[in-house]
Amino acid sequence: MKILTVEREARCRRREDFPGCGLPEVAFAGRSNVGKSSLINSLLHRRSLAAVSSTPGKTRSIDFFLVNKSFRLVDLPGYGYARVPEPVQREWKGLIESYFEDRGRLTGVVWILDIRRELSDLDRLLQGWMVRYGVAFFPVLTKADKLTHSRQRVRQRELQREIGASVEAIVFSAKTGEGKAALWSRVQAAVSRPLRRRES
Ligand code: GTP
Ligand code: MG
Repeated sequence: MKILTVEREARCRRREDFPGCGLPEVAFAGRSNVGKSSLINSLLHRRSLAAVSSTPGKTRSIDFFLVNKSFRLVDLPGYGYARVPEPVQREWKGLIESYFEDRGRLTGVVWILDIRRELSDLDRLLQGWMVRYGVAFFPVLTKADKLTHSRQRVRQRELQREIGASVEAIVFSAKTGEGKAALWSRVQAAVSRPLRRRES
């Protein structure tokens, strides 16, 4: 996809601040430090649009990026960082659930998992919400550059089995660009859909 313009439209910590739902959007979700912001930057060919950090729990807000003035990519705050206090975890749950409830034109969620790690309880919670709210999701197994190609294939099979979704998980690396074209075609298909539709 040709990226003509990208603007950070809003950075929200409350439902009241979300922008209107007129445009289709795809969200990016996953545990803290998994590489959500790096993946968004890599897709949009921008080095530092979404803040990348080696300190987990960096993105606490929901960040809306308007692309080509025609759709939004949305960076959701990460979950599951052990040192985050309980009230913050509760705030995260409330914010994400209100996001899923609110966004009538959320046509897909890119669900980002570290290819080396097992699914956590919060990953399962998120998966449950995506199913409950009828949002199609696309699993992406990131940081693939940390494994050999043969290990990547093994982990892809294992995680695919755990996820159990009908959509094939994409092996991805923000470092090498692996999987980027495949992910863009999913994102593009999702934002071309008129309304939310469940596929998984
Ligand atoms: P929070 O906003 O804190 O939840 O983190 P995030 O999920 O947005 O992760 P972020 O993109 O900030 O990346 C976290 C760390 O992982 C950074 O040090 C990145 O450089 C690194 N990283 C992200 N993607 C990749 C990747 O594909 N390969 C490698 N090797 N490192 C990556
Ligand atoms: Mg982030």
